[in-house]
Amino acid sequence: MPKMNDKINQLLLLFKADADQVGTLDTLEEFRIKYLGSKGLLKDLFNELKTVPNESKRDSGQQVNALRIQLEEFYTEKKTALTPQENIKIGQDLTRPGQNITKGSHHPLSLVRDEIIDVFNRIGFEVSEGPEIEDDWHNFSALNFPKDHPARDMQDTFFIEKGDREIALRTHTSSVQVRVMENTRPPIRTISPGRVYRNEAISARAHCFFHQVEGLYIDKNVSFADLKQTLLHFAKAIFGDHAQIRLRPSYFPFTEPSAEVDVSCSICDAKGCNVCKYSGWLEILGCGMVDPAVLEASGIDSSVYSGFAFGMGVERIAQLKFKVNDLRLYSENDLRFLKQF
Ligand code: DAH
Repeated sequence: MPKMNDKINQLLLLFKADADQVGTLDTLEEFRIKYLGSKGLLKDLFNELKTVPNESKRDSGQQVNALRIQLEEFYTEKKTALTPQENIKIGQDLTRPGQNITKGSHHPLSLVRDEIIDVFNRIGFEVSEGPEIEDDWHNFSALNFPKDHPARDMQDTFFIEKGDREIALRTHTSSVQVRVMENTRPPIRTISPGRVYRNEAISARAHCFFHQVEGLYIDKNVSFADLKQTLLHFAKAIFGDHAQIRLRPSYFPFTEPSAEVDVSCSICDAKGCNVCKYSGWLEILGCGMVDPAVLEASGIDSSVYSGFAFGMGVERIAQLKFKVNDLRLYSENDLRFLKQF
């Protein structure tokens, strides 16, 4: 028993002397091997324990264990103190300042789309969506574009399948009107935001994909005056109370009569600038009264119901709101651009 006691005390003294020498991670590692390693001095002591007479085994065991705890604590404390800060796992030192998390922002087109949706939601329009890969019926035929009608050329189409069942990327969100009319009975008040595709060379003013919001209102006795007032309400909500609109006669196969709508230029306050080409007006959407043939094609009785429709480009509205005049910026994902919104 005295023999074991001596050994424990010797090791303790040795440890005290060595501990002062530990000043680097290397010397700490040497320390670990010497004392705590699988062939280390502590292990030797534990082996010795087996030879201790039974009556003093308990005491000696406790002492060796206390020494082990002391050595291990010394080791972990030194390890933390000597390890460079950046190697310490985050969360170990709760007093360190937190890492900055950079917040993302909404894409300008999402902001504008959501604002448009919000304006129409408040006057009772519900949101509906349809597929981007569309068949000929929903994109063209049901909208009164007869086969080989030159109006189809107005929209350069990306075809996926030609032949009996033509499949293409939708060229406008008017296709969603058809789907809604096929699946719901009037009254219908819906807007359909979504992405559309056209086979165009990419430039500042044209892109092969862009975004539209389609609107459709069908009920008994819907008139052109309702359309005009709805669009005026929309223009004021988006561009401010001073905004004015004007309607110019136009042509779309699916509306009769049809019109294009200009809004007073918000960039120069309608005084005339290079964006509105010194006219004070900017075109923002197409619209009209839904052609009776379109109602009938989707199974709606045109002798009972009438309606109006409109379609606008989200990029166009965003351009006027944010004064961004190059369409390519919207899809380049340049953080310098996106961070501004
Ligand atoms: N679909 C047309 C386009 O992409 C826009 C449009 C015009 C939609 C008139 C309509 C409408 O609903 O009535 O150019």
